[in-house]
Amino acid sequence: MDLNKKLNLVKEACEARKLSYTPYSHFNVGAALLAKNGKIYRGCNIESAAYTPTSCAERTAFFKAVSEGVLEFEAIAVVGGEADKEISELCPPCGVCRQVMMEFCDKDEFEIILASSFDDIKTFKLKELLPLGFGPANLE
Ligand code: THU
Repeated sequence: MDLNKKLNLVKEACEARKLSYTPYSHFNVGAALLAKNGKIYRGCNIESAAYTPTSCAERTAFFKAVSEGVLEFEAIAVVGGEADKEISELCPPCGVCRQVMMEFCDKDEFEIILASSFDDIKTFKLKELLPLGFGPANLE
């Protein structure tokens, strides 16, 4: 994916992050999921007083898309950091979110774009972040 497209996806993730609901961790994460049809689904993390029902930003974005019948994806941008501050570190997706990506994405093709600023953007393939992952193909 070219740099301009990545920058736009990071910008979308930063917008998504503004809506994070994080009264417990005060750690705000935003994601922007690009579907193969060109649509971008934004997601933020949403916490709960019972803690475990918390949804990460990445899963919020995936479940929004899948719940609308969209099942094919090209890339996701993720940004995160302390609430009320600009991002300054990479925010790599948690293991559960990587597993959800494995459900819907091609591990050799799907790109995970992480940014600590607009000048520091790192891109990984799903297979790099979830080596030897278990997915739908294992059940065929
Ligand atoms: N979080 C995400 O939204 N995505 C990740 O990949 C890492 C963690 C959220 C969950 C929780 O609301 C907060 O960050 C602190 O763990």
